Amino acid sequence: MITHVFPTPQAVGTALAATVVDAIVERPSLVLGLPTGRTPLPFYDALRRESVRRAVSWREVRTFNLDEFVGVPPTDAESYRAYMTRELFGPLGLPAAHIGFLDGTAPDLERECERYEEAIRAAGGIDLMILGIGANGHIGFNEPAAGLQARTHRARLEPETRASNAAQFGGDVARVPREALSMGMATICQARAVALMATGAGKAAAVRGMRDGAITAALPASFLQLHPSVTLWLDAAAATS
Ligand code: F6R
Repeated sequence: MITHVFPTPQAVGTALAATVVDAIVERPSLVLGLPTGRTPLPFYDALRRESVRRAVSWREVRTFNLDEFVGVPPTDAESYRAYMTRELFGPLGLPAAHIGFLDGTAPDLERECERYEEAIRAAGGIDLMILGIGANGHIGFNEPAAGLQARTHRARLEPETRASNAAQFGGDVARVPREALSMGMATICQARAVALMATGAGKAAAVRGMRDGAITAALPASFLQLHPSVTLWLDAAAATS
């Protein structure tokens, strides 16, 4: 894994945003995999500014987000879909037809997961998968477990993961859904390249385990060691070992 370390979360976001804009300039029909959460906020902020500054068009870019809560409608402000509309899709004017998203209110959630896998395949696969990481080593909602799911699936959220999502639900952890739909580890690892962001001391142990520890379902991100093209974008606190 190639590791870049920056002094602040803002510097991480600025540097990765510049790389993504370069990639879109090179390939206007880039297919991006995208995360939500707190970590990517400086990245999305920089991506909006850099896209405007360099007058880069997102008209042909396609996106697939990693995950969505079960039971939260996409129109709901607490959904990951609404987060992405606020942070990226709205400001950059992505055409709706180019936005891939899981629907956690679909009548048949198994079928919804299959639909998503088919949509990613039909788009030609993901060129660049951008990830965050949970303090417990999860990516997407692939939580530490005895075994991992390869493909997009219905996942149960760990109490720790629900707590870290409480801010999105007015600070009330009881309102955070217990389940989500998430890309699986194979879906993630099939992307041509992976960029993982981690900021803050709370992520340092997970980053160390992911990069230097054994490959284990107890730390799902460790499976990224099997991927030939992973770049870590860390701030100094997350890089401390
Ligand atoms: C969200 C996602 C999650 C987050 C992780 C870290 O789409 O994929 O795996 O990346 O929970 O969240 P933050 O950035 O809020 O610490």
